[in-house]
Amino acid sequence: MESGLTWRGAEVDGWTALALLEWQRELGVDEPILDEPLDRMDLPPPPKPVAPSAIAPQSHAAVPAPKQAEPDHAAFVAEAEAQAAKATSLDMLAELQSGFDGLALKRGARNFVFSDGNPAARVMIIGEAPGEEEDARGLPFVGRAGQLLDRMLAAIGLGRDVPDAARSVYIANVLKWRPPGNRRPQPNEVALSLPFLRKQVELAGPEVILLMGNTPCAAALNREGILRLRGNWTEAFGRPALPMTHPAYLLRNPIAKKDAWADLLSLAAKLDL
Ligand code: URA
Repeated sequence: MESGLTWRGAEVDGWTALALLEWQRELGVDEPILDEPLDRMDLPPPPKPVAPSAIAPQSHAAVPAPKQAEPDHAAFVAEAEAQAAKATSLDMLAELQSGFDGLALKRGARNFVFSDGNPAARVMIIGEAPGEEEDARGLPFVGRAGQLLDRMLAAIGLGRDVPDAARSVYIANVLKWRPPGNRRPQPNEVALSLPFLRKQVELAGPEVILLMGNTPCAAALNREGILRLRGNWTEAFGRPALPMTHPAYLLRNPIAKKDAWADLLSLAAKLDL
């Protein structure tokens, strides 16, 4: 009997179809977005930006260009920097970043997730990247980890929806598109996001920054090892910054909440709350 189910053009039985579905789920495919399946391995590559060397005035002397390990990546980073530099407001920055095609993640994500909260807040919180819920809603930190973050902030009188800038927070992530299956952002993805993040911090102008977990520490401090970094004030993007364990880590390791509480008290003391 025909099952009516096909996989890449070949008919498969129900058990095989189920196993293939499980396999895709393990690879991180957790929701169908289009009516028809789209083979993302078979899409044309994004347009290449013009490498700065290609538009620089050419000298007549045949000077060989220095060899780059990943010329496309370097050109995309230069393009990200050029785009970010144009922004004179956060809205403009969001528009420029959402139009940036250097990150393949963009093609697999549902939404561009730029920020939430009050851009005039004294505190800016920087997380890693949108997860499933954030991707679906287009807002950072709205899943389980985000709900814990809201409770943590409320414990010291802060909140993303508080109108008073002195008591509100501004929230963003290093990556603005969800990595498939919530995998950790790769260094090249962080490098391509960093020029925009740096500009976002500059335009928001927070008094202090909270770095939630390893990815923002890697991006902003070029250091990792959050369990050693946490609780120690440092400087990121020219501003006082406090690394903290990510709320998703606290959900998995409730024992670490004690240290997170100490870090929140340190933040409250810094802000004279
Ligand atoms: N984790 C993050 O780092 N950011 C989010 O927006 C959600 C979960």
